[in-house]
Amino acid sequence: MAMIQNNVFQMPTMGHNGISNKVISHNNNGFHIPIINDYLRTSSVTLSSGFKMPVVGLGVFRVEGKGMKELIIHAIKIGYRHFDCAAKYQNEEELGDAIAEAIQRGLVKREELFITTKLWNSDHGYALEACKDSLRKLRLDYLDLYLVHFPVPTKFTGIGKLKSVIGEDGILDIDTNISLESTWRGMEDLVSKGLVRSIGISNYSLLLTRDCLAYAKIRPAVNQIETHPYFQRASLVKFCQKHGICVTAHTPLGGSVANTEMFGSVSCLDDPVLMGLADKYKKSVAQIILRWNIQRNVTVIPKTSKLERLDQNSHVFDFELTKEDMDLIKSLDQNQRTNLPGKYWGVDIYQ
Ligand SMILES: NC(=O)c1ccc[n+]([C@@H]2O[C@H](COP(=O)([O-])OP(=O)(O)OC[C@H]3O[C@@H](n4cnc5c(N)ncnc54)[C@H](OP(=O)(O)O)[C@@H]3O)[C@@H](O)[C@H]2O)c1
Repeated sequence: MAMIQNNVFQMPTMGHNGISNKVISHNNNGFHIPIINDYLRTSSVTLSSGFKMPVVGLGVFRVEGKGMKELIIHAIKIGYRHFDCAAKYQNEEELGDAIAEAIQRGLVKREELFITTKLWNSDHGYALEACKDSLRKLRLDYLDLYLVHFPVPTKFTGIGKLKSVIGEDGILDIDTNISLESTWRGMEDLVSKGLVRSIGISNYSLLLTRDCLAYAKIRPAVNQIETHPYFQRASLVKFCQKHGICVTAHTPLGGSVANTEMFGSVSCLDDPVLMGLADKYKKSVAQIILRWNIQRNVTVIPKTSKLERLDQNSHVFDFELTKEDMDLIKSLDQNQRTNLPGKYWGVDIYQ
């Protein structure tokens, strides 16, 4: 078991082998159906809310609706229990359908799943309505985790419309009348109404996180931030962990080619040092990166639409990076963000 300040990380003993090669059944063609990855299913962090969140989840940003069902059903079969969605991804309905089918087929029970979705910028003043809309689309009666997607309230465009209105000046129409404190009150109300178990923040800087702690009656359980070897954010991670906020790495693989295409950014997946470590541990670069984040008590939600990568990204509990290799990865930091929505908003919100 590894500990983080205030949050408890429950992970299996390292060095266990044989997870990926076991076979639970063969069909007539001798096809190997993978064993349920028990560590994927059982490793968890206890959030400040008292609820447990699996350490590895599947992010569904840019997962297209038509492939969702097969992906989610396969993910559940191999042990994924944690799914990260957002109203803005416009695929809550497809995720909801897939979850409903998995439950109906007896593959999993609702209470075994951990479902996250997020309040979009244009809905900051309408947390209740937005949350109910997400719940309806996801076909759920409660969320495990609801996050403020960005600390950027924008012009309201109607529940479910989720537009990012750009003003005549070419920059995002940011609403300066809504305080993040009032957004947080709306989030807290959702907990008291029983619609949401844990609430959290996303893309909050150290100082905005500090502010949230000052006004919160219910403290944020999670800060979901971009972090990977090229964007390590050691101070923010340490600050959150010191105050009992679990850090979840979004874009944990640096977004790979998807972010290169969308934002023109560079992913760490091709880094020669990481490739060397992958050789050394007989793992993929993606597995090295995910393992590195887990070893610094950061939960991860890599996205993939490919079944073989789904499996690969889940096998991060059967090896351990040495302290020297953790330090080596530390030296790769370039303070380089890859998710750059400002490119479309005409304003860099992180400045
Ligand atoms: N809160 C926020 O503002 C925010 C922002 C961004 C993301 N997120 C969350 O974080 C999740 C992950 O972020 P992301 O999707 O932007 O980036 P990511 O997980 O870092 O990278 C995804 C990219 O990596 C590829 N990939 C996945 N596994 C791989 C492997 N084993 N080897 C090589 N390539 C691999 C995927 O391609 P294939 O699909 O082709 O495999 C995709 O192009 C999202 O799905 C979302 O849930 C949250």
